[in-house]
Amino acid sequence: MTDSWTPPSWRQRKARQLPAYPDAAALAGAEAQLAAWPPLIFPGEADALRERLARVARGEAFLLQGGDCAESFDELGGATVAGTFRVILQMAVVLTYGAACPVVKLGRIAGQFAKPRSSDVETIDGTTLPSYRGDIVNGSEFTAAARTPDPQRLLRAYSHSATVLNLLRALAQGGFADLHQVHRWTADFVRQSPQGERFEALAGRITDCLAFMEACGFDAARTPQLHAVEFWTSHEALHLHYEEALTRRDEASGRFYGGSAHLLWIGERTREIAGAHVEFLRGIANPIGVKLGPKVTADELLPLLDRLDPQQQPGRVVLITRMGAGRLPERLPALVRAVKATGRAPVWCCDPMHGNTVTSGNGYKTRDFANIATEVRDFFAVHAAEGSQAGGLHFEMTGQDVTECRGGAQGLTDESLAQRYRSACDPRLNGSQSLELAFMVAEMLKAGRRQAA
Ligand code: TRP
Ligand code: MN
Repeated sequence: MTDSWTPPSWRQRKARQLPAYPDAAALAGAEAQLAAWPPLIFPGEADALRERLARVARGEAFLLQGGDCAESFDELGGATVAGTFRVILQMAVVLTYGAACPVVKLGRIAGQFAKPRSSDVETIDGTTLPSYRGDIVNGSEFTAAARTPDPQRLLRAYSHSATVLNLLRALAQGGFADLHQVHRWTADFVRQSPQGERFEALAGRITDCLAFMEACGFDAARTPQLHAVEFWTSHEALHLHYEEALTRRDEASGRFYGGSAHLLWIGERTREIAGAHVEFLRGIANPIGVKLGPKVTADELLPLLDRLDPQQQPGRVVLITRMGAGRLPERLPALVRAVKATGRAPVWCCDPMHGNTVTSGNGYKTRDFANIATEVRDFFAVHAAEGSQAGGLHFEMTGQDVTECRGGAQGLTDESLAQRYRSACDPRLNGSQSLELAFMVAEMLKAGRRQAA
């Protein structure tokens, strides 16, 4: 096996979690179509995100990465995207104002369609069909027609992503994200909640600040930073046929860039060093993420970092830990120490969602807000103790008024879950719970920065 990388070199490796397409010619046709279409992002944008992440790694900014567990083709209402975007804006402004810390805003959106599964097949009442692997692969309905992997879905995923990204770019740049609009980001159902009131108070202070500065002669109209945000996209790079087909060589630098999103990550189930997913990610110049579960050891992690980031490029790697509340304090310190000893400074990001999934008494897949909060708190404590940066937060949320995670100030219970449980995948924080988390993180960030100062 040679060490030279090409966009298809992953095909020589063992690829987990990829669908078995019955029609190879149809797959090749869809790949050729994707390869002929334009990329969704451009190299300069990925480079800019890498530079922003380098700031996060140095402790000069905080990373917020959030969105749905999985997007769906059926949910192309603009309201869903705008709802997610406005909650991320709210969380960002809580952190920016509350902790006086710049926030890098990264959606898990506009391409988050592929899901890893523990089994290739599912059996119901004696019938065995392929597992549902996300809308980019097949349909969730339990029929042979829906479950058969369909390459045409790759093209739908591309157009869906392009449409969502177009809206996100408009929302980020077109006036909606203007700080003068801060009162308009609260959804009606959040406004009445305790978090909504707390946010309105903060929004009032920001509005006062702006008015005061403008009265002093500060020209807001000539300060573009007030009127727009940088917003980046990311998803799990699970479907390698899709990712390869959207990879482009940048003429200026000669480097290859994944064209489907600004940042791509690999999951806990696909990060084996000799596997196809690591092979693909190591060759693209985008910033990349790696999910780390509670079992990962330093002996596994250090060679992986050498493989993915041999030049120790600032902002190249985001390590997203998803240990589970309770397990993090015993698992994370050794990893942080080992990485630090190599001289590397990756972005450490806390995913307090995926290690804290449980089944409720009445059969719902859920997460307890208290456990989410504990994992985040312990994450900050470990990094403070180890002298490294608690760089970011990775979360699953929606702007919709759902009841999928228990607890929080709304006090959602097992019974509440039945009211508006809409996730086809993992349970998400609703708008109110997301804000609550942001206020909590702002406090911790502020405390950490005060100590450092
Ligand atoms: N552009 C700045 C930033 O992204 C300020 C800003 C404008 C902002 N709109 C925002 C910050 C919305 C948070 C949320 O930080
Ligand atoms: Mn998930």
